[in-house]
Parts: sequence; C-alpha cells; structure tokens
Amino acid sequence: QLVVLAYSGGLDTSCILVWLREQGYSVIAYLANLGQNEDFEEARAKAEKLGAVDVIIEDLRRELVEDFAFVSVQGNCRYEDKYLLGTSLARPCIVRGLVRAARKHKAGFIAHGATGKGNDQVRFEFGCAALMPNAKVIAPWRDPGFCARFQGRQDLFSYARANGIPLPVTPKSPWSIDGNIIHVSYESGILEDPNCPAPEGLCQMTVDPEKAPDKPQLLTINFEKGIPVSVVMEDGSRVEGSLEVFTAVNTAAAAHGVGRVDMVENRFLGLKSRGVYETPGLTALHAAHGDLESVCLDKRVRDVKEHLAHVLAQQIYNGLWYSPECEYTRQCIAASQTHVTGSVRLKLYKGNVHVVQRVGAPGCSLYNTSLVSMDEHGGYDPTDASGFIAVHALRLREYGSLRAAAP
Ligand code: ARG
Ligand code: SIN
Repeated sequence: QLVVLAYSGGLDTSCILVWLREQGYSVIAYLANLGQNEDFEEARAKAEKLGAVDVIIEDLRRELVEDFAFVSVQGNCRYEDKYLLGTSLARPCIVRGLVRAARKHKAGFIAHGATGKGNDQVRFEFGCAALMPNAKVIAPWRDPGFCARFQGRQDLFSYARANGIPLPVTPKSPWSIDGNIIHVSYESGILEDPNCPAPEGLCQMTVDPEKAPDKPQLLTINFEKGIPVSVVMEDGSRVEGSLEVFTAVNTAAAAHGVGRVDMVENRFLGLKSRGVYETPGLTALHAAHGDLESVCLDKRVRDVKEHLAHVLAQQIYNGLWYSPECEYTRQCIAASQTHVTGSVRLKLYKGNVHVVQRVGAPGCSLYNTSLVSMDEHGGYDPTDASGFIAVHALRLREYGSLRAAAP
C-alpha cells in the first residue's frame, strides 16, 4: 500500500506520516518548493528519519508563476474583491506534482493534511479526482480513527514526543501560516476574532507600509498578450523570464509594503473565516495589467471579460482549476488578451501602487489621441452626439413625465 503524502515539514504532516505507517502504508513524502520559508534539506532528513520510503522535493516555483499566477494576472482575479488567491493558486500546482509522483512510483493513494473545515481539502481532492481518477485520497483530519486520537495540537505534541518526531524548535505562533512565492497567509488562532487587530510584526513578507522608504520606487513592466515578460528597474536594469520577473516585482513591492489585506471571506463550505494576506508582487502586477487593459481592450470585451474573471476567481477559490468549466473560462480569458501588449510604469510608495504611465504596443492600443482630443475633431462629427443623446434620453423623458404627473 503505497501512499504519496503532501508533506510540509511541519508537525501535522510529520505526525500524519508516522500515523500512516502505523496504518500499514509505505509513505513517500512529497514536498513542493513553492518559495515558502523552509529548510528543505532539514525537512528531507526529518521525513527520512520518520521512515518515509522516499522523499521527493521538487522546485515548482516556475510552474507556479507561469501556469497559475500569470493566468490570474490575465484575469485580474480576486476573490470577494480582495483576496488574490495565493493559496488557491498553489494547491492545483501541488496536486499536479503529487499526481506526477504517484504515477511515477505507482502509488494508489494520496494523503494530505488539510483540515475538514477548510478549502484546501476540497482543492486537493477535486484536483486528484480530475487528474488521477482512480487514486484513493486519505484525509486523516476527517478519518474517524485519527480524529478520535487527535483533537488538536496538544495531542500532536504528545504523539510527536512518543514517536521521536522532532518538535518545532521555534515556538508555534498563535496563528496558522501558509506561504509561497505569491503570498503568505495568516489564519486561525488569535486571528479568529475578526474584531481583534492583526498584531504588529505578523507579516513576514512585506515591510510595514509605515516603515517603508520615504523615496518611491519606479519600475516598468512589459506585457505580451497579458503576460508579464520583462521588467525594467529604476536603475535601468532589465529582468526577463517568468520567475525572474515575478521575483523582481515581488521584492520591490515587498520593500514598499505593497499588498497587505485583512479580510473576512466566505469559504466554499459556507463558513466565514478571517484571514490576513500579503501578496506584494501579484498586487503590483494586477495593477499594471489592469491598467494596460484599459488601453488595449475594447469597452464591451472588457465588460464580458470582467464577468468571466469573477467566475474564474470563484472557480480557483473553490478548487475547480481542473474542471471543464475552468478550462473553458481560462481559454476565454486568454482569448481576450491577444492585444494586451505594452508597458506600464509603476510607482511603489508606502503600501501603494500608483500607475504613472502606460502605453499599448503599435497595433494593440485602442487609445486614439486625436479622437479624444479637445483640440481637434479627429474624424468625428460632434453634431452626431445630438441624436445619440436624444435617443438615449427618450426613456428618461418618459420616466420624468410619469414622475411629474404622479400625485
Ligand atoms: N483562506 C485562504 C484560502 O482558502 C488561505 C488558506 C490557507 N491555508 C492554510 N493551510 N493555512 O485560499
Ligand atoms: C485548512 O483547513 O487546512 C486550512 C484552511 C483552508 O483550507 O481553508
């Protein structure tokens, strides 16, 4: 009975690893490097010590940026107007890696350490269902035997002590963290009270906007078909390549405290949850991309696309990345991007992203200076507007007369 476990190196999945062995499974620990703050070699040693038959550590950072984060940039996807989906985008990337490993090693089981109340369990399991329909998923936090044994952290601690599982050296912070190259999220613990302000010093990725540099930083992001392809930094240096561009923008935005969000969201299961997120680079890329669209997208295409982007954000949040409807939405959004090519100059300053310049590439920009100019007609006959207004005002007159006649 071979199982591939989505292993994080933390206490929960370490206990799960040992518990799975107790249940008679041979465990392959799979650890994705998504850019989280983690000592991967230490995690490898730990999993080996705990009896994993194999430990796979894969660097998926470029996949995460190219195949997931940049798709979200094209859609300017936000869940419930705020959340930039840093965890939601990472899960399908991990699932793809898990399934790759399970197929390669002919494992019939996939296990994960997500709780029974959250979104992550859904994302793991929907993803497995679509990518490896015959695999059986083990979710210990929903297993009656596991649940009877482990109520929460205290039980994990005693189990760890009894089984030689190294305990975390740093005292566990009173909240739960999930991090990757896109974002760091903080939930639960003291944050469960939405009326309790996030403690100072919570965020580990971005500088506190109040302590950010007094001098703004300028950078230019170049897009091709809605994808960031290069960035020109303030000193004129140019960065190319998906991961490299993402990292450069991330680092600059983080240094200026960009992308912090504190919100209450509706989980797929229907419960409300308070989360704090910091998503510096993606926040800046969204701002730049959305602005370029204002120049390159037709007014009505923009309307349709905005609706689709809203749908896509929900599909991503709800763990439906590998679904027919999400494939369809992604294709539609990609099709809207054929002319979203050009450059946007951003100013990062004390937690804010300001767009200061934008230009669409030749053949891509719909912006027509002479048409809009107050200084010339530009091929447009202003007397045409009289008819336009008269026709549109027709129903307003009807409505107005009716109101005026009302007692
Ligand atoms: N609420 C966010 C989401 O559903 C973040 C989840 C964080 N996950 C975690 N295992 N800490 O995408
Ligand atoms: C979890 O429940 O495992 C984390 C939170 C979530 O998945 O929404």
